[in-house]
Amino acid sequence: MEFMEFSGKQAAQSPEALRLAGEAPWIMGWPPSADERVLADRDFSWLAAWHPLAFDSEVFGLALGQISCLAHRAPWPEADSLARGAVFLGELAARARGAGLAGLFARVAEKDFLGAQALEAAGARLMDASVVWEADLDALAATPAPPGGFELRAAAPEDAPALEALAAGAFCDLAAYADRFSLDPRLGHGCGELYRRWMANSLSGAQADQVLVLTAEKKPVGFITLKKGQSGEPGWVALNAVSPDMRGRGLYNTLLAHGLAWLAGQGASCARVRTKFSQRAVIRAWSRLGARPLAGDFTFHLWLDDF
Ligand SMILES: CC(C)(COP(=O)(O)OP(=O)(O)OC[C@H]1O[C@@H](n2cnc3c(N)ncnc32)[C@H](O)[C@@H]1OP(=O)(O)O)[C@@H](O)C(=O)NCCC(=O)NCCS
Repeated sequence: MEFMEFSGKQAAQSPEALRLAGEAPWIMGWPPSADERVLADRDFSWLAAWHPLAFDSEVFGLALGQISCLAHRAPWPEADSLARGAVFLGELAARARGAGLAGLFARVAEKDFLGAQALEAAGARLMDASVVWEADLDALAATPAPPGGFELRAAAPEDAPALEALAAGAFCDLAAYADRFSLDPRLGHGCGELYRRWMANSLSGAQADQVLVLTAEKKPVGFITLKKGQSGEPGWVALNAVSPDMRGRGLYNTLLAHGLAWLAGQGASCARVRTKFSQRAVIRAWSRLGARPLAGDFTFHLWLDDF
C-alpha cells in the first residue's frame, strides 16, 4: 500500500478525495478542517483526517489526538477490505506517533463495521457506544413544577463548587455512566478534572448558554446545561445529571422538561442530546417527550505505544 499526505484544505479540494467522500458509506466528519493532517492510500480506498487535541492533552497530561474523519470505499469488512484498513490505520498510527502523540481517539458511525474492525485490527479498543436523540420543541407540554421541597433555577456563581463536584461524581462513576475517560486505564486519573473543567466552562458561558440547577434544601442535586442552536440549528442538552441519592424519583423528567422549555424559549425548534445506549433513564425521559433516535456511533481509543 502506498500513502499520500495532504492538508485538510488540499484534501477538501482534491477530486479523488471528494469522490471518495461522496461515495464512502457512513463517513463522518467530512470535510476536514483546513489545517488537519489527511492521509490516504494511493488508490483512495481509505482516507483519514486527524489533529492533536490541546484541551484533552493538557487535562490528562498526555499528547492526545483525534481521527475526525475516517472514510473507506468498501462498505463491509471482508478479508481484503479489512486487511487494507488494518495496514492503513497502522500507517496512520505510525505517523501520529512520529508526530509525538501517545494516543488517538476515533469515532465511527453505527453501521461502520469495517471502520470499527479495522481500528480493532490496528489495536484500538471500544470505549463508548452512543446515540443522538432529537425532540421537536414546537408543541411541548406545559413544564411540570418541581416536586415539593425542590427548587429549579438558573445556576448562580456560588453553585460552581457543588456543580463541579456533582458532574465529576456522576460522569466518572463507572457503574452509573461508564464514561470513556473513566473506563480507559490510561485516562481514568483525569476524568474528574475533565468534567469539573467542562462544568466550570459551562458556567462561564464558554461551553453553555444556560445552566439550570435543581436544589433541595438550597443544595444542588441536579443540573442540565444547554446550548442554543446557531441560526436555526438544533439546540443541545450537553451535561445533565442527578445526584445518586436523588435518582429514580422523576427528577430528570422535570429537569429535562424545563431545559427543553428554555431552548424553545430561545427560538430552537428542536433539541438534541448525545447519550450512551446504556443510559436508559435518559432515553426513557426523552421518549416520554416524543423524541426519536437520529444516529448512533462507536468511539475507540488507540494507544500508539502498543505498536
Ligand atoms: C440519567 C439520570 C440523570 C437520570 O436521573 P433520574 O432522576 O434518576 O431519572 P428519573 O427518575 O427522572 O427517570 C427518568 C425515566 O427513566 C426511568 N429510569 C430511571 N432510572 C432508570 C434505570 N436505571 N434504568 C431504566 N430506567 C430508568 C424512570 O422510570 C423514568 O421513566 P418513566 O418516566 O417512563 O417512568 C441519572 O441516573 C444520572 O445522573 N446518571 C449519571 C449521569 C448520566 O447518565 N447523565 C446523563 C448523560 S446524557
